[in-house]
Amino acid sequence: MAFVRGMTCNNSTISVSLGARAYPIHIGAGVREVFLGALDRLRGGGRAVFVVTSPAVVRAQALLFEGIRAVGAVVHVVSCDGEGAKRAVELEALWEALAVGCVDRGGVVVAVGGGVVGDLSGFAAATYLRGVDFIQVPTTLLAMVDSAVGGKTGINLGAGKNLAGAFHQPVAVYADTGLLATLPPREFSAGMAEVIKTGLLGDAALFARLCGAGPLRWDHPALEGVIRRCCEIKAVVVGADERETAGGEGGRALLNLGHTFGHAIENVAGYGEYLHGEAVAVGLVLAARLSVELGLVGRDVVASVAGVLRANNLPLALRRELPVGALLEAMRRDKKARGGAMRFVVLRAVGEAGMCLVDDEVLLARVLGAAHLEPVFFA
Ligand code: NAD
Ligand code: GLY
Repeated sequence: MAFVRGMTCNNSTISVSLGARAYPIHIGAGVREVFLGALDRLRGGGRAVFVVTSPAVVRAQALLFEGIRAVGAVVHVVSCDGEGAKRAVELEALWEALAVGCVDRGGVVVAVGGGVVGDLSGFAAATYLRGVDFIQVPTTLLAMVDSAVGGKTGINLGAGKNLAGAFHQPVAVYADTGLLATLPPREFSAGMAEVIKTGLLGDAALFARLCGAGPLRWDHPALEGVIRRCCEIKAVVVGADERETAGGEGGRALLNLGHTFGHAIENVAGYGEYLHGEAVAVGLVLAARLSVELGLVGRDVVASVAGVLRANNLPLALRRELPVGALLEAMRRDKKARGGAMRFVVLRAVGEAGMCLVDDEVLLARVLGAAHLEPVFFA
């Protein structure tokens, strides 16, 4: 329990163990006060603080930004909300704003927002002056449980999702669960897709808890523990395979369960039609179906995945059919592909994932061809 500026804060901290680049993830309601205290100390030490955010966040969290401006930080608002901001032109605008603002090598870039702001500004921090310090203040559920942790930063290219980027770890993450109060329900659900993914790939007990809990909401008493568990799992995986170089059974690549399908859906449908978490939700159903086709798990696993996704208001199928050929083409450009063969994260059981090279395009086309069909027949 920490007391900062007169406010009570229930704060638990997880560490990402990366030697000299280890950092804390502070989680809990009121953690924003710990964050504002840290900014104050940075400014007191003469360091420039450059905060990047999105229009909806600056509107929804006026008090937080009052506090940020009060300590003398500069606030840069990206031009639009959502996936459309994760592109080269926005990155260039950020670099220019950093330079015009005379941010030097002692400066700190701070992302206050969802995964889009985190990925974009993290990439700017990784590259501006060949790298400056970076802090993450996630304001979406997805960013709290996934994107703010682990140092993957980047932007989308026309050719595919996240195809340009860098590994650049933050120096600290401040996840204030109270900030989720203003998050639209659809965005909250999208974050639940990454939560469900985490249980499926690495923690059967978490998955069982999610199946039993019904839909979570920002003020659900179980949510903070769920966020903490997701961060613990991600911290362990990242600590063991920071740059996703582990071969064989997967390492960090396992965190991409459902993402080869999901990224292809986002790309082919056009960025923004599906929220990232929605595309991942459909991708999780497809990954479960692929695992069934490969004889790794029974059909009951597809039913469980579909059940928990549905309970959390996530799509199980595409809203309109997308061309299978274009989806396959997008998947061939995935970062995990090797020598023309597509690599997928598959389920070996609930709570256990593995990697699989799949070059049987007929099988993949069959799985993708069913992407617009809800798997009700398994229930
Ligand atoms: P997002 O960043 O687009 O945020 C969702 C929307 O909610 C935006 O419109 C944003 O302005 C608004 N918003 C955010 N917080 C709010 C709040 N508290 N109140 C009101 N509005 C708020 O979406 P996201 O789901 O957070 O992130 C998706 C992105 O994250 C994708 O680009 C995905 O590729 C990336 N991602 C990255 C990693 C990684 O490891 N780097 C992991 C997973 C996902
Ligand atoms: N979200 C996948 C990763 O961080 O590796």
